[in-house]
Amino acid sequence: MCKNTEKQIFDYLSENLSPKKLKHSYNVAMFAAELASKHALDTVKVRTAGLLHDCAKFMTDEEFIDFFKNRSFKDIIKFSPHLLHSFAGEIIAKEKFKIKDRNILNAIRNHTLGRKNMCAIEKIIFVADYVSYDRKWKYAKRIRNLAKNDLNKAFFEVLTKKIEHIIGKSMWLCPQIVDTWNWYVSNNKKDN
Ligand SMILES: [Fe+2]
Ligand SMILES: [Fe+2]
Repeated sequence: MCKNTEKQIFDYLSENLSPKKLKHSYNVAMFAAELASKHALDTVKVRTAGLLHDCAKFMTDEEFIDFFKNRSFKDIIKFSPHLLHSFAGEIIAKEKFKIKDRNILNAIRNHTLGRKNMCAIEKIIFVADYVSYDRKWKYAKRIRNLAKNDLNKAFFEVLTKKIEHIIGKSMWLCPQIVDTWNWYVSNNKKDN
């Protein structure tokens, strides 16, 4: 990722996202890069994924539904269309910014629901999105510190907190996050 592309991404986000979402994207990119450096991963790739993870968040639910009407997201469209921003974000990253790196694209695509057997870059974006420095909720600081030492533990804790939150609010639980949960619970010993 050259500096030019990073500037293009930043300009695109500045034009399309609200100031609050722009600040969040920047914070996710910065915290994700901090984690990448702690865990000896490619900081530029991780920063790019962090910057782009919510690049489709300017779209409305109606626009997501229209964008995905011919694709197989029937239940998400019906129950929780905002979740489509991750999938739309992957498409924007690929088509507008010509990102080909599969780990970056997967990190954008799976930052809300996860999937089985995620790579370290995906886990970093999943965690950074939930506990970046702009997140003020109760456990954010503790999980931020945990992520610097043990990414897998922090990842599992974020996954748990997300599911608890959805259930606590009696909201629809997407099968993809249930699959993520089941995979990590059954592989806990070798992966976490
Ligand atoms: Fe998001
Ligand atoms: Fe986000």
